[in-house]
Amino acid sequence: MIKVDSLIVNYKGFCAVDNVSFSVEEQEIFGIVGPNGAGKTSTIECIEGLRKPSSGTISVMGYDPWKNRKELHEIIGVQLQDTSYQDRARVFEICELFSSFYSNPIPYDELLNSLGLQDKRKAFVSKLSGGQKQKLAIVLSLISNPKVVFLDELTTGLDPKARHQMWDMILKLRDKGLTIVIVSHFMDEVEAICDRVAIMNKGRILNIGTISSIIEKYDLKQKISFKTDQININSLEKLDYVISVKKERDVVTLFGTGNDYVNRVITYLTENNIIYTELSVKKPNLEDVFLDLAGYTPEGENSRKAVGGLK
Ligand SMILES: Nc1ncnc2c1ncn2[C@@H]1O[C@H](COP(=O)(O)OP(=O)(O)OP(=O)(O)O)[C@@H](O)[C@H]1O
Ligand SMILES: [Mg+2]
Repeated sequence: MIKVDSLIVNYKGFCAVDNVSFSVEEQEIFGIVGPNGAGKTSTIECIEGLRKPSSGTISVMGYDPWKNRKELHEIIGVQLQDTSYQDRARVFEICELFSSFYSNPIPYDELLNSLGLQDKRKAFVSKLSGGQKQKLAIVLSLISNPKVVFLDELTTGLDPKARHQMWDMILKLRDKGLTIVIVSHFMDEVEAICDRVAIMNKGRILNIGTISSIIEKYDLKQKISFKTDQININSLEKLDYVISVKKERDVVTLFGTGNDYVNRVITYLTENNIIYTELSVKKPNLEDVFLDLAGYTPEGENSRKAVGGLK
């Protein structure tokens, strides 16, 4: 559906997007993550035909977004990171205006209903809450009945229930055949809905793939913690599959690697008749990868030094 090849975006000599290439398949939910200023919005603005690339080629369903903006306009839906509306307009008036832009719009009342905005139909846009404005932006991005939707920081400002509703809605849209590109700072959101993700930093893609493949690649440590007052942590430190151990009061936290690391720790505790409670295992997730790349390590000494990280 989308092919980006060697994209470069320069702003007066500053390179915001530096030779980025990737493609997005039909009916895929593709996520772009990365720290502030990484070049995410600049990249998708080029794909949306809103910004002219300095160099590189982009194709969206065979169209060049810059040269074929008219055709593209009919097949894509866009929710921008920052949107401002005329304050004196009411919700239904903005929806009608947007509907008039397209040849085959979806009845906007359906969209307002599905996002719980039907009661606000006649409200002034200026009187909507932050989250309601965000929902309106999403309604407007879908009015064109698009084939591809771009959502830049979709759920920023939404309450937890609204975020989950939004995710459900996106998954349903995908099942109906849409291709969706999202930019997000919420790693739980990306893990919940994206099929593949690209991690960007300083204009480049550091990694791209399914979430599980990215997490595996970084080989981060699994965290085990349990409560006991019967252990000498020096004995745990000596085990070859344990990387580090910390004990605070009766809580022992340890990090290790290897597929059978958790089993081996439990076996060790059992064989040594160590009685423990509240054992928990936390597998690394996308947030851990992101923090590791950013050089941020809540557990300090347990960190692997990130190579080519986000710093
Ligand atoms: N119109 C512009 N003129 C000059 N510099 C710009 C312009 N737009 C963006 N930049 C710069 O390009 C870089 C990338 O910006 P971009 O908006 O693409 O980042 P982003 O990854 O979307 O960040 P965020 O997570 O904060 O939204 C930043 O350093 C930004 O200051
Ligand atoms: Mg942005």
